[in-house]
Amino acid sequence: STRIPLVAGNWKMNFDHLEATYFVQKLAWLLRDARFEYKRCEVALFPAFTALRSVQVLVESEKLNITYGAQSVSVTTQGAFTGDVSADMLTRLGCSYVIVGHSERRKYHPEDDANIVDQVRAVLAADMVPILCVGESFEERRQGIELDFAVSQVRDVTRDLSDEEAAKLIIAYEPVWAIGTGMVATPQSAQEAAKAIRDDLTGSFGAKVGNAVRILYGGSVTSGNAAQLIGEADVDGFLIGGASLDVDELAKIARLT
Ligand code: G3H
Repeated sequence: STRIPLVAGNWKMNFDHLEATYFVQKLAWLLRDARFEYKRCEVALFPAFTALRSVQVLVESEKLNITYGAQSVSVTTQGAFTGDVSADMLTRLGCSYVIVGHSERRKYHPEDDANIVDQVRAVLAADMVPILCVGESFEERRQGIELDFAVSQVRDVTRDLSDEEAAKLIIAYEPVWAIGTGMVATPQSAQEAAKAIRDDLTGSFGAKVGNAVRILYGGSVTSGNAAQLIGEADVDGFLIGGASLDVDELAKIARLT
């Protein structure tokens, strides 16, 4: 396919701005060779808000081949919303992406479908790309309804988007039972879910959109399982938590992708 694989490191609530700086410098050094200049695979980092400015300064001053984004965003543009950060603020920090609807946000914050739809719109309106996270819990998997569940989560958020908007999305399929547990999905089951999501997008928005959308797998990805997962036709990269905190490990995964 023509989809450029994406290796996305979601640092979650780890690394202050200094640790982020050391990490980016080392990552850039580890990936310094030509392979990464041709952009056969794109590497994106998702630091905490407090580290975004340090990452921006480093990436811009050194012209690094690394993109980055935020882990969530406010649905409003500005005003009396204590503690929130707007999409425009993120664009001005050079963010390309925002992770939207991660299962940890759905669980620990009141992020329901309506809020997630509004985040997607806010991100698109600010010229960034939303990485929409979906995926079943152990209970849905036990019942054997995991594919329907993930597909309907995507549908609930994309229902009112235009074709142009939908084509810009990235979807991350992250089964909740695989996040941070060491229990990675099998390549077959990651492929099955990615294909089900892609087929449904094709059904709703047409083949052009279905072919354009990158679908990532997330959940206990390591350098030990990444090569097999990326071998699947509809898996276009990874959203990596734990393994993205180890710079050697992340660089290894990028090389395998
Ligand atoms: O956003 C990343 C996912 O939650 C995966 O986390 O790689 O630690 O399982 P993990």
